[in-house]
Amino acid sequence: MNDLGRLEDLPPDYVQALRDVNLVPLWPSLRGVLPPNIPTRQTRATHWPYQTLRPLLLKAGELTPIEKAERRVLVLANPGHGLEKMQASAAMYLGMQLLMPGEWAPSHRHTPNAVRMIVEGEGAYTTVDGEKCPMRRGDLILTPTGLWHEHGHDGTDPVIWLDVLDLPLVHYMEASYHVNGERQTILPGQGSTRYVRSGLLPSPVFQRSAKAYPMLRYPWQDARAALEAMARDDAGLAHLQVSYINPETGGDAENILGFYALMLRPGQTLRLPARSPAQVFHVIEGQVAATSAGSSFHMAEADTCCTPGYEAVTLTNLWASQPSFLFMADESPLHRKLGVYEDRG
Ligand SMILES: [Fe+2]
Repeated sequence: MNDLGRLEDLPPDYVQALRDVNLVPLWPSLRGVLPPNIPTRQTRATHWPYQTLRPLLLKAGELTPIEKAERRVLVLANPGHGLEKMQASAAMYLGMQLLMPGEWAPSHRHTPNAVRMIVEGEGAYTTVDGEKCPMRRGDLILTPTGLWHEHGHDGTDPVIWLDVLDLPLVHYMEASYHVNGERQTILPGQGSTRYVRSGLLPSPVFQRSAKAYPMLRYPWQDARAALEAMARDDAGLAHLQVSYINPETGGDAENILGFYALMLRPGQTLRLPARSPAQVFHVIEGQVAATSAGSSFHMAEADTCCTPGYEAVTLTNLWASQPSFLFMADESPLHRKLGVYEDRG
């Protein structure tokens, strides 16, 4: 490949003459923005052990009252992007959030889409668009773009959950903002029970739901049961995965990030292909070794890791006699919509 001319090769007064009228020569930076064969990725394979993070998050509960935090969160920041950027990958933000008994995180809505994966504790709930969503270990709760949401806690112990947002992308687009609101009125009904039977949808008076986000809570017991049914149904099936989808359309649950649950059989090693999106893995149950981009992590229960795009990921269940279960998030919906999605096998 040809070496392209450098900025230093040009006369300084010429470069300054360009700069004075807001012009820049492309060729010195061309390889930087269009590198050969594979993108330059700042996202670094990074592991956040829960047992390291948990005491620091509980300490935040002592140091900062909820009124001074609004959302009491420690951000899982990828050092490859710089910690101050508060991003796990190009499009994903991860935060571990703590709510103490009796605390209230007030109602707001914002343009970035969020989900929560509940990690620890009982008795908390998120109210989304008037629907009260109980928060239990492994449940996935959506707070899509523009929907009001607030968190309350009637239990006796701290509740902790993992937030996954497309904040870095929406912020990059200069489209990120929030609005504060009044405490929501809780409406009757729970969407998670409405869609509990696959292949069946509620259709009163022959009408299907017109809501953009008809299902807001995906209970872990249903996702786990679906994975176990897959494992029983086909003993030879290596890749046991379910996707969190919009049950009315069959499309992705949210517009920018994708969400999945994986089951690893006892002792199983599973290789996920090198695909363009960055990925996040969180252990719901079990012990998993994750290897990607030259890094290897021993993931205990409630640990979280992030891997860059265009790299294969190998997952090994370190439990020899029981399955392990993982929650996974990625940037697939975004990549597919933009036409840049690749699976390199
Ligand atoms: Fe929020």
